[in-house]
Amino acid sequence: MPREIISLQAGQAGNQIGSEFWKKLCAEHGIAPDGTLEDWAVQGTSSLSSQPTHTLAHMQPPSPTNPTATPAAHSAAPYTHGVMDRKDGFFYQADDDHYVPRAILIDTEPRVINNIRSSPFKDLFNPENFYVSKSGGGAGNNWAKGFELGEEAKEELMELINREADGSDSLEGFMLTHSIAGGTGSGLGSYLLERLSDHFPKKLLHTYSVFPGDGDVVVQPYNNLLATKRLVEHADSVIMVDNLALHKLVEDNMELSEASFRQTNQLVSTVMAASTTTLRYPGYMNNDLVGLVSSLIPTPRCHFLMTAYTPFTGDDIDKGKSVRRTTVLDVMRRLLQPKNRLVSTPFSQPSCYMSILNIIQGDVDPTDVHKSLLRIRERQLANFIPWGAASIQVALAKKSPYVQSSHRVSGLMIANHTGIHVRFSRMLREYDQARRIGSYLHQYKQYPMFSKDFSEFDDAREVVAELVDEYKAAEHENYLDYGNGS
Ligand code: GTP
Ligand code: MG
Repeated sequence: MPREIISLQAGQAGNQIGSEFWKKLCAEHGIAPDGTLEDWAVQGTSSLSSQPTHTLAHMQPPSPTNPTATPAAHSAAPYTHGVMDRKDGFFYQADDDHYVPRAILIDTEPRVINNIRSSPFKDLFNPENFYVSKSGGGAGNNWAKGFELGEEAKEELMELINREADGSDSLEGFMLTHSIAGGTGSGLGSYLLERLSDHFPKKLLHTYSVFPGDGDVVVQPYNNLLATKRLVEHADSVIMVDNLALHKLVEDNMELSEASFRQTNQLVSTVMAASTTTLRYPGYMNNDLVGLVSSLIPTPRCHFLMTAYTPFTGDDIDKGKSVRRTTVLDVMRRLLQPKNRLVSTPFSQPSCYMSILNIIQGDVDPTDVHKSLLRIRERQLANFIPWGAASIQVALAKKSPYVQSSHRVSGLMIANHTGIHVRFSRMLREYDQARRIGSYLHQYKQYPMFSKDFSEFDDAREVVAELVDEYKAAEHENYLDYGNGS
């Protein structure tokens, strides 16, 4: 039974990144830009069956609380033959058998959506699933306006979402792609998170949220804070994509002085595709989003995840500097290096990992994984929380047979790290500074939520400050008593 995931992409960043993600998924599943299956992409054909399709290994290295335990490989699946991918979680088939993404594309101005509508992928999406606000003027980098435009379009948006939800047999949840700094992805995205958690309380809300670089948007301190409150309260898991880290990573990798959004978005979409690999290729573990996320999030509020990826294999990125050796150990070591992270926050003691999942793709011998985990432990390359049996989990996933790659092995790390509180502390500092000066506050006052007072800001500030406190508390042994009055 497929566990369907509905993707919502809101605003410029959301739609630009989202459309790269769909391009990548099409390439990996052999789906042409118009949604038809390529002739050569027939499932389980013998020409593709000489390679193992998918193995999953779940390896638990000793945790700091149990340092003597020996890593044991569990459930290293026997290789199966044939490429049995699972498209139906992300696509459905129309009456004419075309694959259609379970995606809703939302913006408050037409430009980015029009670009998608005039791209080679124009026929991929369900034309009814494009939503552009009637006024078409955008939210002007104002969270309050984006939220208001969401409220005004409530009926239409919920109609679209309900229709998609009704079209699935076993809906698992929603995936929102957006930025938190502007008006639409941030404000309307927040509105969607609120409505989705009201209407679908049992469904998973997972986001890919773009955090801005320094001074991307003048009023970002306000927008970031207001959107983060919704990410804390309504999302189940948030994969943080930090524009600062993203640009640096692409620039270093390609020896560029300035990376374009097109280049950085290839990287984000690679990470998004890799993070959904275990959902799209059947295996024994992590083959639904709930399983994947719950293994990473030991306590509900600490659900802000960072990623690292190596080596990059986007069109442009391949032309740049590449990693020469791609053994499993190299990949797993690189994933722990700050320069490969998609968040720019420097982590220092006593911050530590609450969980790590490495999704390793390519030709991998499970015993190499075992050896790599031992080596990482010997070298103490990852510090874990002192209050639980945290571990590096490893999922081995086969690469799509339809996409050429110059690397034998690639890896994605998804991790929950307490040091992420530094990013939220910076958000609070930026907000406090802006609020002290009071610049641009009048722009928010025009909207109902702020017309009487700015208590919504105060409330959001408190939510983010509590998040910082909780992550800090998670660095200590007695964290499990946190919130119980201790
Ligand atoms: P309004 O235009 O104000 O209605 O909202 P919006 O949601 O369309 O705004 P946008 O997505 O442009 O948000 C601005 C933030 O997103 C800034 O931090 C930009 O640097 C970032 N951003 C915009 N486009 C992209 C993109 O394609 N990729 C990435 N990584 N970031 C983007
Ligand atoms: Mg916009």
